[in-house]
Amino acid sequence: MIPLEDPTTLSLLFHLNSEPWLNDEAYKGGSVNQELKVPDGIIAEIPLPRPSGSALMALLAQRHSCRDFAPVEMSLDNASALLAASYGALAPARFGTQMPFLRRTVPSAGGLFPLEVYVFTQRVQRLEDGLYHYDVVGHSLRQLRRENVFQTLEPMFYTYPFMKDANLVFAIAAVFMRIQKKYGPRGYRYTLIEAGHVAQNISLRAIEPAGDPRVLEVKVALVDALEGQGRAAETRALREEIEGPLRASRSPYAADLRARLAEAALPPEVKLGLR
Ligand SMILES: Cc1cc2nc3c(=O)[nH]c(=O)nc-3n(C[C@H](O)[C@H](O)[C@H](O)COP(=O)(O)O)c2cc1C
Repeated sequence: MIPLEDPTTLSLLFHLNSEPWLNDEAYKGGSVNQELKVPDGIIAEIPLPRPSGSALMALLAQRHSCRDFAPVEMSLDNASALLAASYGALAPARFGTQMPFLRRTVPSAGGLFPLEVYVFTQRVQRLEDGLYHYDVVGHSLRQLRRENVFQTLEPMFYTYPFMKDANLVFAIAAVFMRIQKKYGPRGYRYTLIEAGHVAQNISLRAIEPAGDPRVLEVKVALVDALEGQGRAAETRALREEIEGPLRASRSPYAADLRARLAEAALPPEVKLGLR
């Protein structure tokens, strides 16, 4: 039995024993059936109102896993935006007479922030290919390796072909003792949850980089949502905001987005092909 007061042995054992499990058959099996729980003992089922239009929901609707990256350059602005969203510092807060507290883009048990963000980079504007550590307070990258290290990732990732042309691979590392000295083995769970928050921030920020045509994609989706709720004034304002940039955009997606914007004004039964 591991003594209760031992904060790390149990989680270290789990950590070392949860290395990739190469279940080839499952990997190659293609699509899966999602299982959904129907709990026993349901007393009532309460239908929920339609959620109101939201920029966050429009972003969530656009998020998807990308497994094929174009081998093109990423701007330093986009890399910076992703890093800031991942685990960056926000304006400090002060609670009562306590020391100012450095807020971050994710919640963290006990405000201990056990994670450290590293990025493998290639073809990022003004950045030598290499490995960097993200300095949260300085919002800067500390270079640790100066050659393209993507090939060294190949044996580590079963799905390496999906990421071989990506500009950034985030490595979310943890200093487990930072949090386990307070929470013991449970701090290990908290760390994994926090890493999930960071990953989601990156995913969402990745689909709305400034000046990217995909911002317009999110806004077109939002027009569609607002239109569906009959929020005419907001729809008109947002349409006016994006019509000009959409006309001017030379992105290969722009024509598709223009068509979707036109379609957003159609009544729902027409959109669904019922009329
Ligand atoms: C922890 C984790 C591990 C994943 N591993 C893989 C993987 O090895 N290969 C892969 O193609 N997708 C992987 N995915 C992506 C999932 O397949 C994907 O999120 C899921 O099919 C839902 O699709 P969506 O992200 O496009 O909505 C992973 C996702 C998570 C959260």
